Amino acid sequence: MFAPKSVLITGTNRSLGLALVRQLLELASPPNHIFACCRTPHNAEELKCVANENPSVIVMKLDPGWLAKEIGGGIGPTPPEESAKALLKVFATGTEAHQGDFYTHQGEQLPF
Ligand SMILES: NC(=O)c1ccc[n+]([C@@H]2O[C@H](COP(=O)([O-])OP(=O)(O)OC[C@H]3O[C@@H](n4cnc5c(N)ncnc54)[C@H](OP(=O)(O)O)[C@@H]3O)[C@@H](O)[C@H]2O)c1
Repeated sequence: MFAPKSVLITGTNRSLGLALVRQLLELASPPNHIFACCRTPHNAEELKCVANENPSVIVMKLDPGWLAKEIGGGIGPTPPEESAKALLKVFATGTEAHQGDFYTHQGEQLPF
């Protein structure tokens, strides 16, 4: 039986991402936490409705930082491994208390 404990999905404000959130909730054993990421949570009306009805859906905006790879006309200072380690710490403390929060790759919470 497919019964993941926690799932992270990007682009959950619409289309495939939103459908995945909804269908995960319909599983016989839905995940304890669904980290539903999108870049403009305040505009994600459908997703916010789903999250309001299902506390396991944690709507988040995550900034992985400017990674040390060719992107946007330059190479950033953050090794992907460092960003991943910090993001995992955010997920490890992820609860409904983080609903709508915005985190950087350094685990720092930002207002939006
Ligand atoms: N549709 C297809 O037939 C098809 C086929 C093959 C592969 N795919 C891939 O499957 C994925 C989902 O498809 P879909 O049809 O559901 O796509 P979609 O309707 O275009 O939705 C894309 C999602 O990704 C987000 N997104 C786009 N650019 C982003 C960025 N730079 N930073 C953060 N978020 C960004 C969008 O957020 P906003 O609403 O904020 O823009 C939206 O939530 C996409 O990666 C697509 O390339 C789709």
